[in-house]
Amino acid sequence: MSQTQVPEPLVTSEATHGEPLVSVENLTKHFPVRRGIIFQRQVAAVQAVQDVTFSIYPGETLGLVGESGCGKSTTARLIARLLNPTSGRIVFDGQDITKLSSRRMRPFRRDIQMIFQDPYASLNPRQSVGQIIGAPFAIHHTEGDTRKRVRDLMDRVGLNPEHYNRYPHEFSGGQRQRIGVARALALRPKLIICDEPVSALDVSIQAQILNLLEDLQDEFNLTYLFISHDLGVVRHISDRIAVMYLGHLVELATADELYERPRHPYTAALLSAVPKGRAGARVTNRIVLQGDVPSPVNPPSGCPFHPRCPKARLVGNGEVPENCRNELPPLGEVETNHVAACWYPLEPGEELERMAHA
Ligand SMILES: Nc1ncnc2c1ncn2[C@@H]1O[C@H](COP(=O)(O)OP(=O)(O)OP(=O)(O)O)[C@@H](O)[C@H]1O
Ligand SMILES: [Mg+2]
Repeated sequence: MSQTQVPEPLVTSEATHGEPLVSVENLTKHFPVRRGIIFQRQVAAVQAVQDVTFSIYPGETLGLVGESGCGKSTTARLIARLLNPTSGRIVFDGQDITKLSSRRMRPFRRDIQMIFQDPYASLNPRQSVGQIIGAPFAIHHTEGDTRKRVRDLMDRVGLNPEHYNRYPHEFSGGQRQRIGVARALALRPKLIICDEPVSALDVSIQAQILNLLEDLQDEFNLTYLFISHDLGVVRHISDRIAVMYLGHLVELATADELYERPRHPYTAALLSAVPKGRAGARVTNRIVLQGDVPSPVNPPSGCPFHPRCPKARLVGNGEVPENCRNELPPLGEVETNHVAACWYPLEPGEELERMAHA
């Protein structure tokens, strides 16, 4: 393994110090679609993640948002090396881990942990909480008094250590997510990938789990990749936010900047759907996008968002401009510390209501 060069950050914030903990460069994942009963032929590919580049800095929380199917979980699983990329590179802590064998990946597995949306589905119902939280110690053959460490972890995440022998079904949804957090924390990872960790929980419980995650981040100097389809959830926890659409990274900025001055029409539309008053959402006019998200098996030419883009229609007087239809816009700087992949990014504060009726 050799030390690897990583590119300069596209967007810096107060949290982007030093060398990134994780960088993905031109990360791409295509899932083959096969047909045929005996001889399975590959007939197409799901373009789940397409040429995505970003970094996450030590101690930072990078929010990753976008609609269902845009490639968030696939990106997460590629970083955790639970999937192999079709192309591109993953650098973790200065080491290129893109092609490491499972044996050489082993030390990194401790450093990269995941928390999932549905703790119930990710917790073995036949194991006690003590066994679940203690499993990482057993798998990685760590020394020490496992029982005591598990009880300390339970206490730290707000579970009663007396409940060591209880089973997942005896806990509420929020408590089950605390079990998932404790398990992820057990081996003192550097990175925790939180894949929709609060999406299945009531709003009041969501806040408790988000607060817990923030406290743990400070205490253990954790770095988070925090995935959500809900922009209202990621604002407060994120230092910077990346927006994905149909496998592409379409915008990246600091959290405040993204909320106050979204420049990609897709981000503006997503933000306009955040209920008023929640997370300080500024936009009040809901932008209703036409049509559904296209299939990632057969994505549109040019800008992936062009068939639904209200701004493109506005620019072209009802017709989508030629470059939107045919040329993929690069992720470019629209302002210091703010990048967007759009031929006609919104001006800061550009009126959105008219777009809705364009
Ligand atoms: N193992 C797989 N085989 C084939 N296609 C897959 C596989 N995993 C994901 N996909 C497809 O890749 C695309 C991206 O999926 P992904 O789960 O990454 O999206 P997501 O943004 O996490 O969505 P959600 O918000 O619903 O969790 C989708 O079209 C999905 O159907
Ligand atoms: Mg997902």
